[in-house]
Amino acid sequence: MSLQRHRLDAEFALDPELCHLNHAAIGPWPRRTMEAVCRFATDNAARGSLDYLQWLEVETHLRHRLARLIGSDDSASIALLKNTSEALSVIAHGLPWRTGENVVGIAQEFPSNRIVWESLAPRGVRWRALDLDQSSDPEGDLCALCDEHTRLIAVSWVQYARGLRLDLARIGAFCRAHDIRFCVDAIQGLGAQPFSLADSGADFVVADGHKWMFGPEGLALFYAAPAHRQTLGLHQFGWHMVANPGDFEQYDWTPAPEARRFECGSPNLLAVHALEASLSLLEDVGISRIEPLIRERCDWLIEAIDRRGFELLSPRAPERRAGIITFRVPEVASERLYPALMANQVLCAQRGGGIRFSPHFHTTEETLTLAMERVEQLARG
Ligand SMILES: Cc1ncc(COP(=O)(O)O)c(C=O)c1O
Repeated sequence: MSLQRHRLDAEFALDPELCHLNHAAIGPWPRRTMEAVCRFATDNAARGSLDYLQWLEVETHLRHRLARLIGSDDSASIALLKNTSEALSVIAHGLPWRTGENVVGIAQEFPSNRIVWESLAPRGVRWRALDLDQSSDPEGDLCALCDEHTRLIAVSWVQYARGLRLDLARIGAFCRAHDIRFCVDAIQGLGAQPFSLADSGADFVVADGHKWMFGPEGLALFYAAPAHRQTLGLHQFGWHMVANPGDFEQYDWTPAPEARRFECGSPNLLAVHALEASLSLLEDVGISRIEPLIRERCDWLIEAIDRRGFELLSPRAPERRAGIITFRVPEVASERLYPALMANQVLCAQRGGGIRFSPHFHTTEETLTLAMERVEQLARG
């Protein structure tokens, strides 16, 4: 099988000896992102903040791009927060809970998606978790865990460890039918897979930009449906979140009607410039083009894993995965293999009981071949 390439692969300047298979942790920066950051730094050094209004225009473009990425035309519903965990905390501690209510989710979630709901225990809100390892129908089983006290279902679209991609539309439809809110952590899918807000039925969508979106760490998308935006209690306050943020001498204030109400102070304009540039690349390539390129690379990896007699831990069905392929080499502890791979320039992660590879659209066949050869050598050589 020979992998298709995209002409915008040239945007990546990775060392050819490095096998970068770690987009599920931190994606590399495209050239245009590096250039945008360098330009921003140069402008800052030479002109101070003289161009501040232009910087804010970049921020506006970013909000539009993020809205488009989730299939929304409402950029006023997008807040720019520090990270996914902060966005989840804004939701968890903003919803008007009643004692005795519960949140339904998945036991094997990334810690931020568990800890934040467990933190509601002192308010009498319980976290009910589905054991994925015991489920052959995760969507159905999540719905079955709900009862009349369930206020929220909170899941990652794509599970971080082994890459299971959930059918959000199915869960979203259940939530709507039962007056349950639906919170989607989309960090492991956005940038790799098309996302439709309408189809998902999500009330909240959160995702940091440093994985599949090729952005920097520390700048995250937070979408809240307009109806919930107004009812979510606020816990962070400052000049930026008010209706008239430029009027420092106005003493009576109200929170901005837009999602900006969740942004209490100065924006991270350095990261804004970086993420805006990265998303421009995603838009230039097109998510609908990116998805099959990633699928091809994952299929390639699965074939190579099978051929070598390694054990695939990720779902086999393409509709059940996005860009994560986790596997094990029988009789070789992943705890031993992982550091050896890293020391040999295979940038990957140890997750879900195995080695996690996460290629993106620009990953070349040479990279995949080299990575699998190194696994073979280090495990069996
Ligand atoms: C599913 C998931 N959610 C959240 C995070 C953490 O995001 P952040 O650091 O932006 O809070 C990760 C990081 O790996 C993740 O995989």
